[in-house]
Parts: sequence; structure tokens; C-alpha cells
Amino acid sequence: MKTQLSFANLASTETDLLAVLAVDAQTAKGPEAKPYPVLLTADEAVKTAAAAVLSSGEYKAGANETLLLHAPAGLAARRLLIVGLGKQAKATVNSVRNAAGTAARFAKPRGIREMVFALPESESLPTAPCARAAVEGAFVGDFDPDTYRSDRKDLSIQSFTAIVATRPPANEEESTEPFGYETSASRPESQPAAEPVDERAIRAAFAEGVIIGESQNFARSLVNEPGNKLTPTILGQRAAQMAQEVGLGWGVYSTDKLHELKMGAFWSVSQGSPEPPALIVLRYEPEGVKDGPVLGLVGKGITFDTGGISIKPADNMEKMKYDMAGGAAMLGAMRAIALLKPKVRVIAIVCAAENMPDGKAQKPGDVQTAMSGKTIEIINTDAEGRLVLADGLAYAKQLGATHLIDAATLTGACVVALGMVNAGVFSNDDAAYERFNAALATSGEKFWRLPLGEEYVDMIKSDIGDIKNTGGRWGGAITAAEFLHTFAEDTPWIHLDIAGVAWMEENKPYIAKGPSGIAVRSVVEWVRTF
Ligand code: BES
Ligand code: MN
Ligand code: ZN
Repeated sequence: MKTQLSFANLASTETDLLAVLAVDAQTAKGPEAKPYPVLLTADEAVKTAAAAVLSSGEYKAGANETLLLHAPAGLAARRLLIVGLGKQAKATVNSVRNAAGTAARFAKPRGIREMVFALPESESLPTAPCARAAVEGAFVGDFDPDTYRSDRKDLSIQSFTAIVATRPPANEEESTEPFGYETSASRPESQPAAEPVDERAIRAAFAEGVIIGESQNFARSLVNEPGNKLTPTILGQRAAQMAQEVGLGWGVYSTDKLHELKMGAFWSVSQGSPEPPALIVLRYEPEGVKDGPVLGLVGKGITFDTGGISIKPADNMEKMKYDMAGGAAMLGAMRAIALLKPKVRVIAIVCAAENMPDGKAQKPGDVQTAMSGKTIEIINTDAEGRLVLADGLAYAKQLGATHLIDAATLTGACVVALGMVNAGVFSNDDAAYERFNAALATSGEKFWRLPLGEEYVDMIKSDIGDIKNTGGRWGGAITAAEFLHTFAEDTPWIHLDIAGVAWMEENKPYIAKGPSGIAVRSVVEWVRTF
């Protein structure tokens, strides 16, 4: 998708599709209160073109509600698409992100390959963050998961332009008469002068949005791959290729390195598969930054999770190809970090393995020694994510990480707790949590904090070793987090359990069913707070 940011007059912009935003400005409540859709543009010609349909009551400007006009009178655009943000008071920058995705997903099946998106003119929706969000949303909306369909019609949007509307100077308007007013008497008052806008800030924000949107889709394209097409080895190759493209330091290791580092927990998961594991290490080292924090990003990269000897039921097992979504999110985040160039050192570690049952697979009751030296009693081989992460976290610390963040499709229990709406977030440090939470305001992603606590640690004490890999049925997301806490120890650490939100079960107007790319934006934003 080619992207562009323009400062231009909306009415005279030639395009196959001009998208403008609307809100429902009705504040009254009760049965008499009818929706009151208002366009977020000051362009008189656009307002005139939409006036009849907006006053008809047919369109309510609900969130992601669309309305299409062909050959709109007085506009150079061939189509005018109105996209709703919902109630005015609730419309946020994230609503604009979704609306841009909705516009892209509206255009795609209609074969519209080029579109222009009018950034909102509204005091509560500042232009720079909206420019960034809009282009992110357009990338998100443009992604479809139908990679292996023979009849795949590659309908992706070829050109997306976000426009900051400018008004034509009054005298130019006199001479061109673009809107077909009959007499000068019926002309509206001269249009307001264009607001002074910080063009550089808007351009910078837009450029960031391109990087972040593309990186989120990079992660999604990895998550979308089936287990046979994306083994740990291939995931390692994809990571290395990306690292070379964007100029990250990298290393991809396998069995020998796991043995050398004494990663007994990570290795125990991979030992049941003929596919060797991949320990993926990416490094971002900005020039001139020699001290300060080192951020350690750790991702679960189980390219397929059968459950191992504690095998999963057949129903929905095919979904377990997305058990590497945490790892993919960290790779996507590193891609964005390499291009955005924040002034902080970052290391990413993705622990990739296939969890399979086999004659060589680990068994319930086995005891493994993790890299940190702690011994782990395996109760359930399906609790494998925490095993690979235990060694990933320990290795990040050994490489000098002063702050840790991990992302993993870790537990079904987290899905039970929060549904497919919020991802879970855990932290051993309130300040670290607050920093992450602040990043969510920019990323627009939904995470909800769940607790840790000594009582939960008691639930994973082992009789034979230091710790066991499951804590029973209750509080399963928390005992899993406490398991990881044992390896993060006192280093400020954030754990993201994305099991419920890494895969969209249904199409939404702004995002296709399939891999969501959750956590890429939030991790990038978190890194940028340092
Ligand atoms: N990959 C799964 C968790 C998962 C469940 C991800 C649903 C996405 C959707 C994880 O490895 C797992 O199997 N967890 C077990 C842990 C249990 C055995 C303690 C679970 O949640 O059932
Ligand atoms: Mn599992
Ligand atoms: Zn798993």
C-alpha cells in the first residue's frame, strides 16, 4: 500500500473514494432524541453534498457505520464515503484508527484501489495523532488472511492518502466557482481561513503510523502462517531476513546453543519434535547510547502447540498455529523500533519450538532444570509456553536487560477471565505497569491488569523440585504469570497474556477475522517512553 499525506482542498481532490468522518452530536436522551449526524469537516462543498442524506435520518453516524454516495455533487471525488465514529463525546483517536480501517475494508471488496481519507477537523481529535492512527488503521484494514486461496483476488488498497483539509483562498474561490452556486447572493459567508497547523508534527506522526501499521501487519502475516509453513527454523529465517532489511543485530541459534546455555526448560518443549527449536535474538543498539536501560522483549514462539503428551482435544486444535503470536508481536515491534530509532537499547528474544507428542517427548512427572538453575516438575506438557519463556527471560537478563516485557498466548484461563476483548497484563512493579498503561492511550489496544501474589506462588510449589508448571484449575492465568515471575525475579517486568485476543474469531468492519497483531503497537509505544 502506497501512502501519502497531503494538505489539500477536499472538494477539488480527484479520487475514486473520498472518506469523511461523522459523529452523532445528539446529547439529549430519551425516545425523542434522534441521532444528529455531523460531519467532521469544515468543507462547505462536502457538507452540501452530504446534507440531504444526513438530514434524512437514514444514517446515524454509529461507530464504523458507513454510507456511500456516488458522483457527489460539487466534489471532484467519484465517491463520497461517510464513516461514523459514534457518539461525539466518545469519539477518540482510536475511533479514527478504526474508521480508517473500515474505509479500507469498505473499498477492498468493491475493487476500489485508491482512496483519500479526510482527517477530522475537530478540536477533540488533534490532527497529528489522527494522521498516525488513520494510516495505521488503513494498514490494519487492508490485511486479509487468504494467503493460500487459489482464487485470491489481490484486492489490497494500492494508494491511501490522508488529507489535512485546506480552504481555498476567498478570491480564488470567486474565480473558479467550483460548487455551482447560482448567484453570488446565495453564496455562504467566506470560508474560515485554514487553521495554522503544525505541518512537520503531522508529517512525522503520519510517517510513524506507516512504520507501525506495516510492522503490525508483518507480525500478522507470521501468525497467519500454518505450522507446516512456519516451523521454528523458518520463523528464525524470517526474523533474520527482517533484521537485515531494517538494520538490526541478530542471531538465530538452535539445539546446540540451548544445551550450551543450559536452557533445560526451553529444550524440554522442543525435544518431542523432529523440528529443531530456534532461539532468535535481535538487538537494537542506537548510536551513541552506551548506558541507561536495556529493554528485554521476550516472546513465546510455539509454532504449533499440540499439547505434547498431555495432548489437546482435536476440536479447535488447528488454532494452535497462532501460539507464536507473542513472538511475532516482538518481531513486529523490533521492526518498528529499528525504523523509528528511539534512544534506548532493546534486545528481543523469541523462543520458538513445536510442542509435539513423540517417543522422545517429555512426560508429566519429568523434572527439568531451567537456565536459572531452578528445577521444574512437569505436571502438564501443555503448559509449555511458560517453560520456553522461563529460559527466554533468564537469557534476556543475562544479556543485560534492566526491564523486561514478555508477550505470550499463555493460558486459556486468561480468555475465561477477560474474554476476547482485553488481553491480560501482569507486573511485579507498579511504576512499570503505569508506564505500560500510559502507552495504551496511544496504541489504542486493550489490556486489563490482573494480580500477582504470594498465595498464588504457593499453588505452584513442587514436592520434588522448586516449582511445578501448573497450579491447578483456579486462577490459571495468574499461576502462569507467577511461574514467569520466578524467572523475571526482581527485574521490573511486564507480562502480556494475549491468548484471547491474538486471533479474531469474527470479521469486524475495520479488521479481518484472523491474526490481530495485538501488542505490537503497545510494545513499541512502551519502548518509546524510555
Ligand atoms: N497455547 C495454550 C494457551 C491458549 C489457549 C492459547 C487458548 C490460545 C487460546 C497454552 O500453551 C496452554 O495450553 N495452556 C494451558 C495451560 C494448562 C495446561 C495449565 C491451558 O490454558 O489450558
Ligand atoms: Mn499448551
Ligand atoms: Zn501454548
